[in-house]
Amino acid sequence: MARMVLVGSVENYTRADFPADFAFGAATSAYQVEGAAFEDGKMPSIWDTFVRAHSDFYGGATGDIACDQYHKYKEDVQCMVDTSLEAYRFSISWSRLIPNGRGPVNPKGLEYYNNLIDELIMHGIKPHVTMYHMDTPQALEDGYGGWLSRTMVRDFTVYADVCFKEFGDRVRHWTTVNEANAFAIGGYDNALIPPGRCSLPFGLACTKGNSSTEPYIAAHNMLLAHSSAVKLYNRKYKGSQHGFVGLNIYAPWFFPYTKATADIKAAQRAIDFYIGWFLHPLVFGDYPDIMKKNAGTRIPALTRHDFQLVKGSFDFIGLNHYATFYIKDDPSSHKMEIRDVNTDIAATIMYERGDSSLDQDNETSSGLYEVLEYLKRVYANPPTYVHENGQRTVRNGTLNDTARVEYMHAYIGTLLRALRNGANSKGYFMWSFLDGFEVVGGYQKGFGMYFVDLSDKQLKRYPKLSAHWYSNFLRGRSISP
Ligand code: NOJ
Repeated sequence: MARMVLVGSVENYTRADFPADFAFGAATSAYQVEGAAFEDGKMPSIWDTFVRAHSDFYGGATGDIACDQYHKYKEDVQCMVDTSLEAYRFSISWSRLIPNGRGPVNPKGLEYYNNLIDELIMHGIKPHVTMYHMDTPQALEDGYGGWLSRTMVRDFTVYADVCFKEFGDRVRHWTTVNEANAFAIGGYDNALIPPGRCSLPFGLACTKGNSSTEPYIAAHNMLLAHSSAVKLYNRKYKGSQHGFVGLNIYAPWFFPYTKATADIKAAQRAIDFYIGWFLHPLVFGDYPDIMKKNAGTRIPALTRHDFQLVKGSFDFIGLNHYATFYIKDDPSSHKMEIRDVNTDIAATIMYERGDSSLDQDNETSSGLYEVLEYLKRVYANPPTYVHENGQRTVRNGTLNDTARVEYMHAYIGTLLRALRNGANSKGYFMWSFLDGFEVVGGYQKGFGMYFVDLSDKQLKRYPKLSAHWYSNFLRGRSISP
């Protein structure tokens, strides 16, 4: 395998090159690792429903057991200690804590998250908690259509209140919604993830929705729910808990495919639709002009009330950055019968940067630098965390994941370069701590630095080379792969 080229990245670095309070950790989400999907009072979420409806796609695999972190959290925290992790990013399952999405709190759910948080803190690992990771309680989806209804804003705020009240004495870093933009597209446009709604099936059975409007409506309600939770935190908890609340977005970088003006504009449109969709309202109180122009009335307007709620409502932005894409202008997409986010962008993704058969450059990590520079330049350099960054490999038990080590080494070096150039970055979480249930592909592929042996009843965890490398780095030792 060709060695990754590190253009402009810092190649030789140690943990000490980063600020002492910079958080280095690993991430997971509830559905992907917890298991115990129907235990101790947990009710279904849209993930439980989706995997059953798409059993062909997942080969019958589900997250019912996943890595069973629900029962094995102590063992997992021990693995984190062995790896010298400073922080762990995980998500709370809403329907474990409040089984029907609204109403009574489940004491067993409370107990589980209290135990996990206490175990982490006892070992000096900071919990960074996501409240929503694509897992709407099924009761709310059935009741009023989940994120398609503004009622979610109220229910999410009540749920957030429970989280802040119960765990906020120990949790200082809260993320409201994970990958709000990718979830709006995957859940309501191309149906790749739950709730799996779309106008036209893309090879997968999808629930009949409306791709022209629903992604924008769902995103709008997520934005309002996020802001409402921030407002609540600031009013009720900030003074005593001194924590931080942020929103997470999928943040790839887009380079123009050619130097032609049309392609340069297309890449900028992609940036506005992916990054600006949430960053623009959060920083300036409105959607980017190009979104309003291309989506017209299909994108909800931010009313005066929304503007006041949303503008400035974040302490940090979480970035899930995996890759950089080459973008080409595609005016023909305007003629498509059904307009959706993709046709509104009017561009085609040509390929991913670093795809060795197509990309002569073979350099991947500098897109992260570009994202951070862009946020600095356009959005007043907000505090950011790299909440997810990682590489997918075939899940075959090979612990020798050299490519993942090179990937992490390159990206962490790039992050250091961005920091030295003034980026307001506060932490880095690799995705993922464990080989969990993957959103696309189930258990076929894994992002984990720990392999989980599914053929073993005990679901034993095995550190891969990446875990050893990360651990050495965090202990201040090795710097090159
Ligand atoms: C984004 C999502 O947040 C996470 O759930 C997923 O597993 C990873 N990316 C990798 O696909």
